Amino acid sequence: MNSKISVDSIIALKNKRKITMLTAYDYPIASLVDRAGIDIILVGDSLANVVLGLESTRQVGMPEMLHHTKAVSRAVKNALLIGDMPYSSYQLNPNECVANAQKFISQAGCLGVKLEWFDNCLEVTEQIIKAGIPVMGHIGLTPQTVDKIGGFKCQGKDALAAKRLIQQAKELEEKGCFALVLECIPDKIAQLITKKIKIPTLGIGAGIHCDGQVLVINDLLGLFERYSPKFVKKYANLSPLILEAIENFKNDVLQEKFPDPEHSFTIKEEEFKKIDAC
Ligand code: KIV
Repeated sequence: MNSKISVDSIIALKNKRKITMLTAYDYPIASLVDRAGIDIILVGDSLANVVLGLESTRQVGMPEMLHHTKAVSRAVKNALLIGDMPYSSYQLNPNECVANAQKFISQAGCLGVKLEWFDNCLEVTEQIIKAGIPVMGHIGLTPQTVDKIGGFKCQGKDALAAKRLIQQAKELEEKGCFALVLECIPDKIAQLITKKIKIPTLGIGAGIHCDGQVLVINDLLGLFERYSPKFVKKYANLSPLILEAIENFKNDVLQEKFPDPEHSFTIKEEEFKKIDAC
Protein backbone atom coordinates (compact mmCIF):
# COMPACT_ATOMS: atom_id res chain seq x y z
CA MET A 1 0.00 0.00 0.00
CA ASN A 2 1.48 3.37 -0.99
CA SER A 3 -1.11 5.88 0.09
CA LYS A 4 -0.21 9.48 -0.82
CA ILE A 5 -2.59 11.26 1.55
CA SER A 6 -1.17 11.45 5.05
CA VAL A 7 -2.73 12.13 8.44
CA ASP A 8 -0.95 15.52 8.47
CA SER A 9 -2.32 16.47 5.08
CA ILE A 10 -5.86 15.71 6.31
CA ILE A 11 -5.36 17.95 9.36
CA ALA A 12 -4.01 20.69 7.07
CA LEU A 13 -7.24 20.64 5.02
CA LYS A 14 -9.27 22.11 7.92
CA ASN A 15 -10.54 25.58 6.94
CA LYS A 16 -9.09 25.11 3.41
CA ARG A 17 -11.53 22.77 1.70
CA LYS A 18 -14.04 20.08 2.66
CA ILE A 19 -12.73 16.56 3.31
CA THR A 20 -14.35 13.49 1.74
CA MET A 21 -14.49 10.07 3.36
CA LEU A 22 -16.27 6.87 2.32
CA THR A 23 -16.27 3.33 3.57
CA ALA A 24 -15.12 0.39 1.45
CA TYR A 25 -14.94 -3.30 2.23
CA ASP A 26 -13.50 -4.98 -0.87
CA TYR A 27 -11.02 -4.53 -3.71
CA PRO A 28 -13.27 -3.48 -6.64
CA ILE A 29 -15.22 -0.82 -4.77
CA ALA A 30 -12.10 0.46 -2.97
CA SER A 31 -10.34 0.97 -6.33
CA LEU A 32 -13.27 3.03 -7.60
CA VAL A 33 -13.45 5.11 -4.40
CA ASP A 34 -9.71 5.71 -4.62
CA ARG A 35 -9.81 6.55 -8.34
CA ALA A 36 -12.62 9.06 -7.67
CA GLY A 37 -10.20 10.98 -5.44
CA ILE A 38 -11.89 10.46 -2.06
CA ASP A 39 -9.51 11.63 0.70
CA ILE A 40 -10.09 8.95 3.33
CA ILE A 41 -11.23 5.34 2.97
CA LEU A 42 -12.59 3.77 6.13
CA VAL A 43 -13.01 0.03 6.40
CA GLY A 44 -15.94 0.49 8.77
CA ASP A 45 -17.31 -2.10 11.12
CA SER A 46 -20.58 -1.34 9.27
CA LEU A 47 -19.15 -4.31 7.35
CA ALA A 48 -21.28 -6.29 9.81
CA ASN A 49 -24.58 -4.82 8.57
CA VAL A 50 -24.07 -3.92 4.93
CA VAL A 51 -21.82 -6.79 3.79
CA LEU A 52 -22.12 -9.68 6.21
CA GLY A 53 -25.86 -9.42 6.89
CA LEU A 54 -25.44 -9.28 10.67
CA GLU A 55 -27.67 -7.28 13.01
CA SER A 56 -25.04 -5.46 15.04
CA THR A 57 -21.57 -4.06 14.45
CA ARG A 58 -20.62 -5.80 17.69
CA GLN A 59 -20.77 -9.08 15.80
CA VAL A 60 -17.61 -8.49 13.75
CA GLY A 61 -14.18 -9.10 15.21
CA MET A 62 -10.55 -8.64 14.23
CA PRO A 63 -10.39 -11.61 11.79
CA GLU A 64 -13.21 -10.24 9.60
CA MET A 65 -12.01 -6.64 9.84
CA LEU A 66 -8.44 -7.55 8.89
CA HIS A 67 -9.56 -9.82 6.07
CA HIS A 68 -11.58 -7.02 4.42
CA THR A 69 -9.06 -4.28 5.22
CA LYS A 70 -6.31 -6.25 3.47
CA ALA A 71 -8.48 -6.49 0.33
CA VAL A 72 -9.18 -2.74 0.41
CA SER A 73 -5.53 -1.98 1.04
CA ARG A 74 -4.50 -3.79 -2.16
CA ALA A 75 -6.61 -1.30 -4.13
CA VAL A 76 -5.75 1.97 -2.41
CA LYS A 77 -3.13 4.14 -4.09
CA ASN A 78 -3.96 7.66 -2.91
CA ALA A 79 -6.50 7.78 -0.11
CA LEU A 80 -5.67 7.67 3.58
CA LEU A 81 -6.69 4.18 4.74
CA ILE A 82 -8.23 3.90 8.21
CA GLY A 83 -9.25 0.67 9.95
CA ASP A 84 -12.28 0.67 12.25
CA MET A 85 -11.50 -1.05 15.56
CA PRO A 86 -14.21 -3.65 16.23
CA TYR A 87 -15.93 -3.69 19.63
CA SER A 88 -14.08 -6.71 21.00
CA SER A 89 -10.67 -5.31 20.02
CA TYR A 90 -10.69 -2.39 22.49
CA GLN A 91 -13.98 -2.02 24.41
CA LEU A 92 -14.34 -5.64 25.49
CA ASN A 93 -10.57 -6.17 25.78
CA PRO A 94 -8.92 -2.81 26.51
CA ASN A 95 -5.64 -4.56 27.35
CA GLU A 96 -5.38 -5.72 23.76
CA CYS A 97 -6.18 -2.36 22.16
CA VAL A 98 -2.61 -1.46 21.18
CA ALA A 99 -1.80 -4.91 19.80
CA ASN A 100 -5.02 -4.89 17.77
CA ALA A 101 -4.51 -1.35 16.49
CA GLN A 102 -0.99 -2.41 15.48
CA LYS A 103 -2.42 -5.26 13.37
CA PHE A 104 -4.38 -2.75 11.24
CA ILE A 105 -1.10 -0.96 10.53
CA SER A 106 1.39 -3.81 10.14
CA GLN A 107 -0.84 -6.50 8.60
CA ALA A 108 -3.46 -4.51 6.71
CA GLY A 109 -1.61 -1.40 5.51
CA CYS A 110 -3.66 1.22 7.39
CA LEU A 111 -2.17 4.57 8.42
CA GLY A 112 -4.52 4.92 11.38
CA VAL A 113 -7.49 3.49 13.25
CA LYS A 114 -10.91 4.77 14.29
CA LEU A 115 -12.62 4.00 17.57
CA GLU A 116 -15.98 4.93 19.05
CA TRP A 117 -16.61 6.83 22.26
CA PHE A 118 -17.23 4.62 25.32
CA ASP A 119 -16.58 4.85 29.07
CA ASN A 120 -12.82 4.15 28.86
CA CYS A 121 -12.34 5.82 25.50
CA LEU A 122 -9.79 8.38 26.66
CA GLU A 123 -7.45 5.81 28.27
CA VAL A 124 -7.59 3.53 25.24
CA THR A 125 -7.09 6.43 22.81
CA GLU A 126 -4.09 7.62 24.81
CA GLN A 127 -2.47 4.17 24.80
CA ILE A 128 -2.87 3.73 21.04
CA ILE A 129 -1.58 7.22 20.24
CA LYS A 130 1.40 6.71 22.60
CA ALA A 131 2.22 3.60 20.58
CA GLY A 132 2.57 5.90 17.55
CA ILE A 133 -0.70 5.00 15.84
CA PRO A 134 -2.92 7.87 14.63
CA VAL A 135 -6.48 7.71 16.01
CA MET A 136 -9.72 9.09 14.58
CA GLY A 137 -12.38 9.51 17.28
CA HIS A 138 -16.12 8.93 16.80
CA ILE A 139 -18.79 10.57 18.97
CA GLY A 140 -22.57 11.06 18.87
CA LEU A 141 -24.41 7.98 17.64
CA THR A 142 -21.96 5.20 18.47
CA PRO A 143 -23.48 1.93 17.18
CA GLN A 144 -21.18 -0.30 19.27
CA THR A 145 -22.79 1.06 22.46
CA VAL A 146 -26.24 1.79 21.06
CA ASP A 147 -27.86 0.11 24.07
CA LYS A 148 -26.30 2.76 26.34
CA ILE A 149 -27.30 5.82 24.29
CA GLY A 150 -31.01 5.13 23.92
CA GLY A 151 -31.01 3.56 20.45
CA PHE A 152 -30.29 4.60 16.88
CA LYS A 153 -31.36 8.22 17.21
CA CYS A 154 -29.99 11.73 17.04
CA GLN A 155 -27.70 12.48 20.02
CA GLY A 156 -27.05 15.77 21.85
CA LYS A 157 -30.54 17.15 21.44
CA ASP A 158 -30.74 18.84 24.84
CA ALA A 159 -28.29 21.32 26.32
CA LEU A 160 -26.73 18.86 28.77
CA ALA A 161 -26.24 16.11 26.19
CA ALA A 162 -24.84 18.64 23.71
CA LYS A 163 -22.42 19.92 26.37
CA ARG A 164 -21.24 16.33 26.95
CA LEU A 165 -20.51 15.90 23.24
CA ILE A 166 -18.55 19.15 23.13
CA GLN A 167 -16.57 17.97 26.16
CA GLN A 168 -15.85 14.58 24.56
CA ALA A 169 -14.63 16.29 21.38
CA LYS A 170 -12.26 18.53 23.34
CA GLU A 171 -10.92 15.62 25.40
CA LEU A 172 -10.28 13.50 22.31
CA GLU A 173 -8.46 16.42 20.70
CA GLU A 174 -6.35 16.83 23.85
CA LYS A 175 -5.47 13.12 23.78
CA GLY A 176 -4.11 13.64 20.26
CA CYS A 177 -6.82 12.36 17.88
CA PHE A 178 -6.19 13.64 14.34
CA ALA A 179 -9.88 13.82 13.34
CA LEU A 180 -13.35 13.16 14.72
CA VAL A 181 -16.41 11.51 13.22
CA LEU A 182 -19.61 13.24 14.39
CA GLU A 183 -22.50 10.87 13.82
CA CYS A 184 -26.14 11.89 13.93
CA ILE A 185 -26.07 15.08 16.00
CA PRO A 186 -27.85 18.43 15.43
CA ASP A 187 -26.14 20.58 12.79
CA LYS A 188 -25.65 23.51 15.20
CA ILE A 189 -23.86 21.28 17.74
CA ALA A 190 -21.62 19.90 14.99
CA GLN A 191 -20.88 23.48 13.93
CA LEU A 192 -20.00 24.43 17.50
CA ILE A 193 -17.67 21.44 17.91
CA THR A 194 -16.08 22.13 14.51
CA LYS A 195 -15.34 25.70 15.62
CA LYS A 196 -14.04 24.73 19.06
CA ILE A 197 -11.46 22.13 17.99
CA LYS A 198 -8.46 22.40 15.68
CA ILE A 199 -8.71 18.91 14.22
CA PRO A 200 -11.12 18.18 11.34
CA THR A 201 -14.66 16.93 11.98
CA LEU A 202 -16.22 14.43 9.59
CA GLY A 203 -19.99 14.44 9.73
CA ILE A 204 -22.48 11.70 9.05
CA GLY A 205 -25.93 13.03 9.83
CA ALA A 206 -24.29 16.09 11.43
CA GLY A 207 -25.10 18.85 8.96
CA ILE A 208 -23.22 20.98 6.48
CA HIS A 209 -20.84 22.78 8.84
CA CYS A 210 -18.47 19.87 9.52
CA ASP A 211 -15.00 19.98 7.97
CA GLY A 212 -15.90 16.97 5.84
CA GLN A 213 -18.54 14.33 5.20
CA VAL A 214 -18.58 10.55 5.39
CA LEU A 215 -21.11 8.02 4.12
CA VAL A 216 -21.33 4.25 4.03
CA ILE A 217 -20.62 3.31 0.39
CA ASN A 218 -23.42 0.72 0.17
CA ASP A 219 -25.92 3.39 1.28
CA LEU A 220 -24.60 5.92 -1.25
CA LEU A 221 -24.80 3.35 -4.07
CA GLY A 222 -28.25 2.05 -3.13
CA LEU A 223 -26.85 -1.39 -2.39
CA PHE A 224 -28.31 -1.85 1.07
CA GLU A 225 -32.05 -2.30 1.23
CA ARG A 226 -32.70 -3.38 4.83
CA TYR A 227 -33.00 0.18 6.18
CA SER A 228 -31.87 3.69 5.29
CA PRO A 229 -31.20 6.37 7.91
CA LYS A 230 -32.53 9.92 7.29
CA PHE A 231 -29.00 11.22 6.71
CA VAL A 232 -28.29 8.90 3.78
CA LYS A 233 -28.35 10.38 0.30
CA LYS A 234 -28.54 7.68 -2.39
CA TYR A 235 -26.37 8.86 -5.28
CA ALA A 236 -27.25 5.73 -7.25
CA ASN A 237 -29.78 2.92 -6.96
CA LEU A 238 -27.79 -0.14 -7.95
CA SER A 239 -29.90 -2.89 -6.37
CA PRO A 240 -32.60 -2.89 -9.10
CA LEU A 241 -29.92 -2.76 -11.82
CA ILE A 242 -28.10 -5.74 -10.35
CA LEU A 243 -31.35 -7.64 -9.90
CA GLU A 244 -32.28 -7.00 -13.55
CA ALA A 245 -28.87 -8.21 -14.76
CA ILE A 246 -29.14 -11.42 -12.73
CA GLU A 247 -32.69 -12.07 -13.96
CA ASN A 248 -31.56 -11.50 -17.56
CA PHE A 249 -28.80 -14.08 -17.07
CA LYS A 250 -31.26 -16.56 -15.58
CA ASN A 251 -33.73 -16.11 -18.44
CA ASP A 252 -31.00 -16.38 -21.11
CA VAL A 253 -29.80 -19.66 -19.62
CA LEU A 254 -33.30 -21.08 -19.34
CA GLN A 255 -34.09 -20.05 -22.93
CA GLU A 256 -30.72 -21.35 -24.19
CA LYS A 257 -29.67 -17.91 -25.43
CA PHE A 258 -26.48 -17.89 -23.37
CA PRO A 259 -23.71 -18.69 -24.12
CA ASP A 260 -23.97 -17.62 -27.76
CA PRO A 261 -21.16 -18.10 -30.34
CA GLU A 262 -19.59 -14.79 -29.27
CA HIS A 263 -18.98 -16.16 -25.78
CA SER A 264 -17.98 -19.70 -26.79
CA PHE A 265 -14.77 -21.36 -28.05
CA THR A 266 -14.41 -23.46 -31.20
CA ILE A 267 -12.20 -26.30 -32.36
CA LYS A 268 -11.20 -26.80 -36.03
CA GLU A 269 -13.46 -29.35 -37.73
CA GLU A 270 -10.48 -31.56 -38.81
CA GLU A 271 -9.26 -31.80 -35.21
CA PHE A 272 -12.75 -32.57 -33.98
CA LYS A 273 -13.05 -35.43 -36.48
CA LYS A 274 -9.78 -36.98 -35.27
CA ILE A 275 -10.98 -37.36 -31.67
CA ASP A 276 -12.42 -40.90 -32.11
CA ALA A 277 -9.17 -42.05 -33.71
CA CYS A 278 -7.01 -40.83 -30.83
O1 KIV B 1 -18.54 1.72 10.49
C1 KIV B 1 -18.77 2.72 9.80
O2 KIV B 1 -19.13 2.65 8.61
C2 KIV B 1 -18.60 4.02 10.42
C3 KIV B 1 -19.03 5.22 9.63
C4 KIV B 1 -20.49 5.38 9.75
C5 KIV B 1 -18.31 6.45 10.04
O3 KIV B 1 -18.18 4.11 11.53
